[in-house]
Amino acid sequence: MEYKIHEVSKKLDVPRSTVRYWESEFTDLIKPVRTSGGQRRYTDKDIKNFLKIKDLIRKKNQSIRQTKQMLSKSSSGRESIDLTNKCILVTGGTGSFGKHFCRTILEKHNPRVIRVYSRDELKQDDMRREFGEEKLRYFIGDVRDRDRMRRAMEGVDIVVHAAALKQVPACEYNPLEAVKTNIIGAQNIIDAAIDAGVKKVMALSTDKAVNPVNLYGATKLCAEKIFIQGNSYTGERGTCFSCVRYGNVIGSRGSVIPLFQKQARSGKVTVTDSRMTRFWITLDKAVELVVNGLTHMQGGEIFVPIIPSMKVVDLAKAVAPGCKVEIIGIRPGEKLHESMITEEDGRNTIAYKGMYVVMPALSWWEKGDYSAGEAVLEGFTYSSNNNTQWLTENDLKKIIKGELSEPVSQAPATLNAG
Ligand SMILES: NC(=O)c1ccc[n+]([C@@H]2O[C@H](COP(=O)([O-])OP(=O)(O)OC[C@H]3O[C@@H](n4cnc5c(N)ncnc54)[C@H](OP(=O)(O)O)[C@@H]3O)[C@@H](O)[C@H]2O)c1
Repeated sequence: MEYKIHEVSKKLDVPRSTVRYWESEFTDLIKPVRTSGGQRRYTDKDIKNFLKIKDLIRKKNQSIRQTKQMLSKSSSGRESIDLTNKCILVTGGTGSFGKHFCRTILEKHNPRVIRVYSRDELKQDDMRREFGEEKLRYFIGDVRDRDRMRRAMEGVDIVVHAAALKQVPACEYNPLEAVKTNIIGAQNIIDAAIDAGVKKVMALSTDKAVNPVNLYGATKLCAEKIFIQGNSYTGERGTCFSCVRYGNVIGSRGSVIPLFQKQARSGKVTVTDSRMTRFWITLDKAVELVVNGLTHMQGGEIFVPIIPSMKVVDLAKAVAPGCKVEIIGIRPGEKLHESMITEEDGRNTIAYKGMYVVMPALSWWEKGDYSAGEAVLEGFTYSSNNNTQWLTENDLKKIIKGELSEPVSQAPATLNAG
């Protein structure tokens, strides 16, 4: 159906001049078609958008600028964020995630530039040689250094925050270093991003932040909370902060596969407990999660991937076939199973676009539109031992040999209570 301007004015109960004014301010949303004689005709979609605009301006007393921000947040129906010509900053860009992220974004998107931010010049130099890519710019800096962060964020559209101290024993032995990098670093990112007018900031978190039993997990939990609530500082500047939370990346620096491979040379591999389970995520999937999160984020969400679990014993047997598996007992600060969504988080969780999204429990900022999501059932939890998707020893062998990519995610297990 198409409407003339006086019909729109009548439907909205506002003068024609207001219709014209709103149309000129909201050109992304109001797109009348033209008749052959050049007359404007408004569509049902235009009417819907006019009603939203009227509601926000007239009933909720929002300014034109605030209304624009809110509507651009809730109208992000697109399938993938447009990174064309964007300036992206990746803290920890020389790490396992950071390098894979840079490679994927350069291959599949067309950013103007990616700033790699980290401390060690040698890792940056190795990466420069490996990538040979002029869109990558290398910034030496520490996330603890607020002034450096501010300078590095000038002109940046999007920040992906991956820098962290992440080795559990190192964080226990150097507790204040873990706090400085993982918590104070998070604060610096938030301050610098707001000051520089960055649009979106995605921070990487971990399942170890859920009911943490070690300092690494506790610092990441604190960082998660700071990022989620950081949205309440942004005000008119409109910077959005969200997190992704995922489990062990098999094959990343310091992960268990290289350890098993090394041990296999002696004919014996060690596993702490035969019942131990973990989630399985690849770097591809981790990067995909971050891109999906950036696409849909409106501020304050924790995006959790739907991924399979495995038994650590099965992984040991797959990596080191024929080797003896010695059980050495669970280590301090280690969990038998990892949890990604607790029952408490579950109350605020929806299944949305192939992910779980934990919505902020407390928010002082405008919440976005997630009406396309499906609430999970009362009592829902998501742990590596109650997963509905499992990798067998055989699957793991094939994945390691490169014969099988990771299994395709099944429908979200919204019924998986308990
Ligand atoms: N790997 C996993 O299994 C896993 C699972 C879940 C979540 N995560 C999260 O994913 C993120 C990336 O992990 P990853 O596996 O890619 O780690 P990684 O390979 O150890 O890389 C860490 C990166 O952070 C940089 N970095 C460390 N401290 C820094 C500081 N103070 N200032 C600036 N840069 C610093 C490192 O470079 P320099 O040393 O040169 O500074 C490096 O580029 C982390 O936040 C981690 O908590 C990882």
